[in-house]
Amino acid sequence: MKLNFKEDKSQFWDDIYLEDDAGWDLKCPTPVFESISESIPTGKLCIIGCGRGYDAVMFAQNGFDVTAVDFAPSAIKSLKTSASLANVDINTVKGDLFLLAEEYPNAFDYIIEQTCFCAINPNRRNEYERVVRSILKPGGQLIGLWFPLDKTVEEGGPPYATRIDEVKTIFGSGWEIVKEEFPELSIEPRKGREILIIFKKN
Ligand SMILES: C[S@@+](CC[C@H](N)C(=O)[O-])C[C@H]1O[C@@H](n2cnc3c(N)ncnc32)[C@H](O)[C@@H]1O
Repeated sequence: MKLNFKEDKSQFWDDIYLEDDAGWDLKCPTPVFESISESIPTGKLCIIGCGRGYDAVMFAQNGFDVTAVDFAPSAIKSLKTSASLANVDINTVKGDLFLLAEEYPNAFDYIIEQTCFCAINPNRRNEYERVVRSILKPGGQLIGLWFPLDKTVEEGGPPYATRIDEVKTIFGSGWEIVKEEFPELSIEPRKGREILIIFKKN
């Protein structure tokens, strides 16, 4: 089946960055991830759909070996500038996350998900799970802030509606939930609209 959704094209996302209209962009590291970075052992960490990469820089500053992936050139350019200013090394990948499996099999201890799952077309969510499973090491963790929980499918996207039961179904077989909570540290506009679920690959 040939997929051809508007959000499959990097230009769709690059235009939003170029117009400075990225409503999802926190302009700083994500407080929930900052807190997690201080509580888990360092390791190889991949951020898929990393955007401008504030979390990539933050994890690198906290000792993680970071790979940051996004196919929008403007996002990667901003990330490279931030990494250089912060004097940290980050493996930046300007490319399609759906093509990562071949180059990064069983490569990462952690994957960070934030508003990437809801950015891709819902028809590709099982494919997303397969890619994530391929690039995580056995025992590796998918650390996700799953959002937006308050949208309906009929409203379209991106961002597309994300339901907790759907996420748990997609990451049902071969995964174990190690943490699930509505984080106190969620930014105010996302409180109750995002949930932290950490899945471990068996
Ligand atoms: C809603 S933004 C979120 C960015 C970032 N996670 C954040 O929270 O600031 C979604 C990002 O995913 C990227 N993206 C979407 N589909 C992608 C794909 N197939 N491969 C790589 N990046 C993708 C977009 O370019 C965009 O930067």
